[in-house]
Amino acid sequence: MSDATSTVPENMKARLKESYDIIASKYNDFTRDHDAVRFTYLNKFLSHLKTNTKQNASVLELGCGAGVPVTKTLLEHSEPTIHVTGNDLSTTQLDLARQNLSEHSDRLKLVQGDMTGLDIPEQSLDGVVGFWSVIHLPREEQTDLVKNIHRWLKPGGLFLANFSQEEAPVAINKTWLKEEKGWMFWSGWGGEKSAKMVEDAGFEILVNEITNDVKDASFLWILARKKA
Ligand SMILES: C[S@@+](CC[C@H](N)C(=O)[O-])C[C@H]1O[C@@H](n2cnc3c(N)ncnc32)[C@H](O)[C@@H]1O
Repeated sequence: MSDATSTVPENMKARLKESYDIIASKYNDFTRDHDAVRFTYLNKFLSHLKTNTKQNASVLELGCGAGVPVTKTLLEHSEPTIHVTGNDLSTTQLDLARQNLSEHSDRLKLVQGDMTGLDIPEQSLDGVVGFWSVIHLPREEQTDLVKNIHRWLKPGGLFLANFSQEEAPVAINKTWLKEEKGWMFWSGWGGEKSAKMVEDAGFEILVNEITNDVKDASFLWILARKKA
């Protein structure tokens, strides 16, 4: 993260959508190096999901991007078979996800828009995951989102996401990935307060680990279970 200030720009989400629409391919190439981290935490999520659910599970992925490898892995999983709702702000990312996941369209629903505006019935989900996506919300919105995720999950439901280890109300990089149109926004409470935010929403924390997986940032990975 860079350029820490404290004011969230008013048009932040429109700018973020525009950036991801433009830099989607470059981001997707850049982030392949992080797949080992994705699989480390996705596998922990899947092993807990296996003990929680019988044959079928419903999972929501926040900021699913182009759908590889996370959404694809969820859709290819058996025991349980997973129905996935993939949400993303970027239409370009979702177009790529539609292409990348065309074999699984019967169990996949893609929803474009801001994750904070999702309309999900209470206690309807077995799991919610977000890889490098919740960090794009202003941190006060992260707190509200985590409370919503708790409402959407069934008792015992799982939540997996990463949060900024560094505390920053606002971090902006105008040319992320050296892209002239790569304007980016992130925010976070920092590791300790993010874990507390998840606990305060009513979750039991199963995994709480810090990784230094991106050159300039450390992340807190949380896997949590909604208390029965
Ligand atoms: C860093 S990328 C991560 C993509 C994917 N999860 C991955 O692991 O590569 C962040 C993704 O979150 C999406 N995103 C950012 N803010 C969002 C929001 N408020 N609601 C939904 N998606 C959002 C972006 O469009 C982008 O595709």
